[in-house]
Amino acid sequence: MAAKKKKVKVQLVKGMKDILPDEQLYWNLIRTKVENFARNYGFSRIDTPIVEATSLFKRTVGEDTDVVSKEMYSFVSQGGDKLSLRPENTAPVVRSYIEHGMLNLPQPVKLFYIGPQFRHDNPQAGRYRQFWQFGFEAIGDEDPVIDAQMIAISYFILKDLGLDIEIQVNSVGDSASRTEYIKILKKYYQDKKKSLCKDCSLRLNKNTLRLLDCKNKKCQELAEETPQMVDHLSEAGKEHFMAVLEYLDELDIKYSLNPKIVRGLDYYTRTAWEIFECSGKEGKLNALGGGGRYDDLVNILGGRETPAIGFAIGIERVIMKMQEAKVEIDKGRGFDIYIAQLGIEARKKALNLFEDLRRAGFSVSENMSKKGLKDQLEAADKKQVKYTLIMGQKEIADGTILIRDMESGVQEIVDYKKVKAEVRKRLDRNIAKNLKLKK
Ligand code: HAM
Repeated sequence: MAAKKKKVKVQLVKGMKDILPDEQLYWNLIRTKVENFARNYGFSRIDTPIVEATSLFKRTVGEDTDVVSKEMYSFVSQGGDKLSLRPENTAPVVRSYIEHGMLNLPQPVKLFYIGPQFRHDNPQAGRYRQFWQFGFEAIGDEDPVIDAQMIAISYFILKDLGLDIEIQVNSVGDSASRTEYIKILKKYYQDKKKSLCKDCSLRLNKNTLRLLDCKNKKCQELAEETPQMVDHLSEAGKEHFMAVLEYLDELDIKYSLNPKIVRGLDYYTRTAWEIFECSGKEGKLNALGGGGRYDDLVNILGGRETPAIGFAIGIERVIMKMQEAKVEIDKGRGFDIYIAQLGIEARKKALNLFEDLRRAGFSVSENMSKKGLKDQLEAADKKQVKYTLIMGQKEIADGTILIRDMESGVQEIVDYKKVKAEVRKRLDRNIAKNLKLKK
């Protein structure tokens, strides 16, 4: 007798998430919403690979950021290349923009994406190691109206999905004023070093701005008193930021100024914002997304100076908030026709009838492996079918088929050869009746 193999249970990898059929309704809705906004605002879809050179993220997101220093899935390939699963998608899009000569297209080049990102973070509600983002990037324009439009897209998509949204906005300055501001911050923190949390005392010299958005209570207290970036913007920077805010007022977007929005990635310049859901549990604010200008990024990656701006939103978090807020989701329309069959001969004929009707463009459904009529009618009911076509031995012998109106339960016998016309007639009648009711 062969030795019994020990069964080893293989489970979902920590921090990963299956997206089960029930949840797909949310995903479809979000995808469609994003695609419609993209069309209206003139963004084209871009898909970049999940794997990129590790150096891409080191040079852009920044070696000292948490995302790069702690959270990247990095590995050396069989060929010896240092690669990483992308932790975000702005740097890959800019790489692609440069590599494919999009610098020579009419500017701005407007691109959007929907795809998975990877960060080896501590998993918890709304935080995964593989998570999906949709994002919009407008490369090659520095007009503040573009900033306002990008903020508007991030705001209105989520509002349209039924969420109560607030934007928190800041300006992190151009690189010159930011360098100056970082010096001021370092000076401010110099004699307070001992009161900082462990992470922040390490960050002080390498990633100073992050001290402003540390979640530690003591660090938050210290951050309350810091000099603010907006007071250290250049004249041009101030003007740009004021213009962005004026456009936001014009668009009637709910926003507040938050000097602590510095974003966790190094490439940001000037306008930066985060998107919060504000009707959630206990009125807590939860970041669903964020974005900002990255005017130096194209240049850093070897292209010419090119202003740019973008944002990304975490899809799992949006769905979590939609579920918490009990946003009603359209379960999709039911089917027009269901094919029920009794007996092997009828089943064979039904297989072909299904294909015939499907090819003719009818919205048709079935459960061919079910044998009993009761089971099949129950299934048809669940699928909100309008008419069920029933075929048994008798109908096969007579060359007929039964059409059952699922609402009234009335059944009529029709000539099998005329089934398409008979169904079409009834569906048209149905449409006309509904139109009349609406009037
Ligand atoms: P980010 O703020 O790092 O920005 O990520 C944007 C959003 O992705 C977050 O607000 C959150 O909703 C979602 N997210 C991040 N990490 C996780 C996680 N571990 N689990 C679930 N969701 C997560 C960026 O990624 C920038 N590339 C955005 C951007 C585009 N800036 C300019 N253009």
